[in-house]
Amino acid sequence: MKQLSLPKHSPLLSKDFTFGVATASFQIEGGAADRLPCIWDTFCAQDDKIADNSNGLIACEHYTRWPQDIELIDSLGVDAYRLSISWPRVMQQDGSLNPLGVKFYTDLLDELKRRNIKVFVTLYHWDLPQYLEDQGGWLNRNTAYEFAHYTDLISKAFGDRVYSYSTLNEPFCSSYLGYEIGVHAPGIVGREFGRKAAHHLLLGHGLAMQMLAKNSPQTLNGIVLNFTPCYPVTQSDADLKATAFADDYINHWYMRPVMTGKYPDIIEQLPVEQRPDIHPGDMEIIAQPLDYLGVNFYTRLHYQASADDFYDERPHQGLLTDIGWEIYPQALTELLVSLNEKYTLPPIYITENGAAMADKMIDGKVNDSDRITYYQQHLNALHNATEQGVVIHGYFAWSLMDNFEWAEGYSKRFGIVYVDYQTQQRTVKASGLAYSSLITSR
Ligand code: NOJ
Repeated sequence: MKQLSLPKHSPLLSKDFTFGVATASFQIEGGAADRLPCIWDTFCAQDDKIADNSNGLIACEHYTRWPQDIELIDSLGVDAYRLSISWPRVMQQDGSLNPLGVKFYTDLLDELKRRNIKVFVTLYHWDLPQYLEDQGGWLNRNTAYEFAHYTDLISKAFGDRVYSYSTLNEPFCSSYLGYEIGVHAPGIVGREFGRKAAHHLLLGHGLAMQMLAKNSPQTLNGIVLNFTPCYPVTQSDADLKATAFADDYINHWYMRPVMTGKYPDIIEQLPVEQRPDIHPGDMEIIAQPLDYLGVNFYTRLHYQASADDFYDERPHQGLLTDIGWEIYPQALTELLVSLNEKYTLPPIYITENGAAMADKMIDGKVNDSDRITYYQQHLNALHNATEQGVVIHGYFAWSLMDNFEWAEGYSKRFGIVYVDYQTQQRTVKASGLAYSSLITSR
């Protein structure tokens, strides 16, 4: 069986480097009867939105199986577990906490603490309560204030059980995929909506950071952004220009305001109706100081000039994972080096990295050697970034276990643990064993 390794003196092997696994509430919990409906319940109930027409009502049944799942996490020997809180589970429509939902998480957090596993809590991993969507969702500025209110109550309720909070996970996906091209919940389509939703998400982030600074100054508080580095198809001026535009539109649209309080300059090129509604003081709220930045990385994309638009995105080419994303680890090194040049970075954690593979369980084993190769290449890429001066504090494999992969349903498997959805049996894959032995051999 393949193993994972790093150069002996790699900073990734130092004892204060954090290795973890990650999940998100809607993707694993199930237990839908004990919470309010969210936008993903509504989206899944529509025809042809999810590849296998599935939903999150049962998922991995983590809601009842969490004690065994924590034991599994512990058995891997990881330092940390990144999970998300289901907003519709802990809040009620009248704006008060739901004691049942709060108890679910406090029990879980207590058990993780007892086992000395650091908890990285994401406050918003896409499961917006449906009653807020009914009032306009992230297109309604008030949702940012609702998010701050939920953050206020939940951070007080959790007390000292948490090691780190991130406000949002991948606001690009919530705004662009959810409100601009409509392939994610709530499925709204229109150029005029994406930037507006993004602004309210970022405002929510800033307001939540203020709450966390007040209620939970002892935790590492930050945000998790996804980056898909943009590469030009040719070196022509037109392709380079289109690629730079795309990079600002999909990546720096989130990073730049959070770090510097300014949107990328391309905002001026957008038709007025596509620009966000920015109120005085918003940008200062958005640019709250961060204790850390979470970086999610999976792949890169190519761009070229377009006759009638700002850019043309090309389909993935080369070596692809099972979800059709190019495997190009060098982009991770280049991304981190360039972020380090462009910004004054807070401590960086890689909060997600991993691959969907067409896993097969044979004689009770899943020998996912392609996934091990993917992890090896990306750990090397991360090590290379540290050699070029980037300081990295931690790395989380996406995901702990196979789960509901959004628009792909259960058809794509990202886990280092295999889930048999008929029996809910968990089996550690070869990649999980390799990851565990890398961590425990430090
Ligand atoms: C990003 C998301 O945060 C996570 O929910 C998703 O499953 C993975 N990437 C893979 O697409």
